[in-house]
Amino acid sequence: MELLSATLARVKPSPTIAVTNKAAELKAAGHDIIGLGAGEPDFDTPQNIKDAAIAAIHEGRTKYTAVDGIPELKKAICAKFKRDNGLEYIPSQVSVGTGGKQILYNALMATLNEGDEVVIPAPYWVSYPDMVLLAGGTPVVAEASIQTGYKLTADQLEAAITPNTKWLIFNSPSNPTGAGYSRSELKELTDVLLRHPQVWVMTDDMYEHLAYDDFTFCTPAEVEPQLYDRTLTVNGVSKAYAMTGWRIGYAAGPEKLIAAMRKVQSQSTSNPCSISQWAAVEALNGTQDFIAPNNEMFVRRRNLVVDMLNAAEGVSCPTPEGAFYVYPSISGCIGKTSPAGTTITDDETFATALLEETGVAVVFGAAFGLSPNFRVSYATSDDALKEACTRIQTFCAGLS
Ligand SMILES: Cc1ncc(COP(=O)(O)O)c(C=O)c1O
Repeated sequence: MELLSATLARVKPSPTIAVTNKAAELKAAGHDIIGLGAGEPDFDTPQNIKDAAIAAIHEGRTKYTAVDGIPELKKAICAKFKRDNGLEYIPSQVSVGTGGKQILYNALMATLNEGDEVVIPAPYWVSYPDMVLLAGGTPVVAEASIQTGYKLTADQLEAAITPNTKWLIFNSPSNPTGAGYSRSELKELTDVLLRHPQVWVMTDDMYEHLAYDDFTFCTPAEVEPQLYDRTLTVNGVSKAYAMTGWRIGYAAGPEKLIAAMRKVQSQSTSNPCSISQWAAVEALNGTQDFIAPNNEMFVRRRNLVVDMLNAAEGVSCPTPEGAFYVYPSISGCIGKTSPAGTTITDDETFATALLEETGVAVVFGAAFGLSPNFRVSYATSDDALKEACTRIQTFCAGLS
């Protein structure tokens, strides 16, 4: 009898983790590697948040909690949705999980049947299609193009929807492109959804607070209140509060869905870490003052990276509205040969040759469903970014 499940066979391992591992191996072997693959801020969790966790330990808040979150955190989440998004939720409409990742997974596990389709705009976060497959659904990829700044148009969304569509997964600002939908761009998509009452919206607002220049974040249930009853608004503390290791994500939506997600979680991980939940209470209720200076730093790095990548031969890099990623196209490099003799047939060969020949680790675009591109995470020091982009420029200039 085959040990592994048929479901697992449909799923691939995370390519972002594979790139990170390969870069770590080369580094351990003594190579000079600059990693631009990490999906996390390079600064530390703010002190007030750490202090809240330490206090929770001292106060003995170290036992199992309610499956989908302590009341204090649910209250803080309701206040956050009201304050930042103008959305009214009560605690029974809120679910807390071990990262936004578990929240998304719970929602898909709780709702998908065989044959149910999930529309995923590409470029997408690597986990969406595989999570849909694990939950027994069918991912339907709707490709956005560089011409629209990697944002899906109303026509593209309309074309992807069928009577079997159960969810649209929406992510703005986006991983991997940093693209953020303006209110009017999002309204065009929500207008399409109003015409298809069977479609629910899973909006992944993880990068809400990483919004730059004059871009103003907005979320589907806020832009179109008629979608409130069929929207799951997902968020978390990982990115804006530099809390990736604490593993707290959350969502709000209709009670029936939240109860179903609680059932999934109750039979898998029980509750998220009690100490991390108290830290998240402080993250949401405490000072938000560090977000603006952090964003100033991210804007400076984004501009540096965009300018340097656009100066590389064969590379074209739009300026994104948020997050800490850029997603340059390398269509001008395809078909050329690297200094060490590798033919660049696609973005995977580009990323491999770049790593082996220059020591710069990026993630190839095929992993995110739109090629030929690569993703750069600029959540690293200015010096590392300058050196990495200089190496990319030299590599591209050496292609013949
Ligand atoms: C778009 C997006 N959604 C969700 C997550 C998951 O975040 P976490 O599980 O750390 O809350 C990430 C992390 O990289 C992400 O980029």
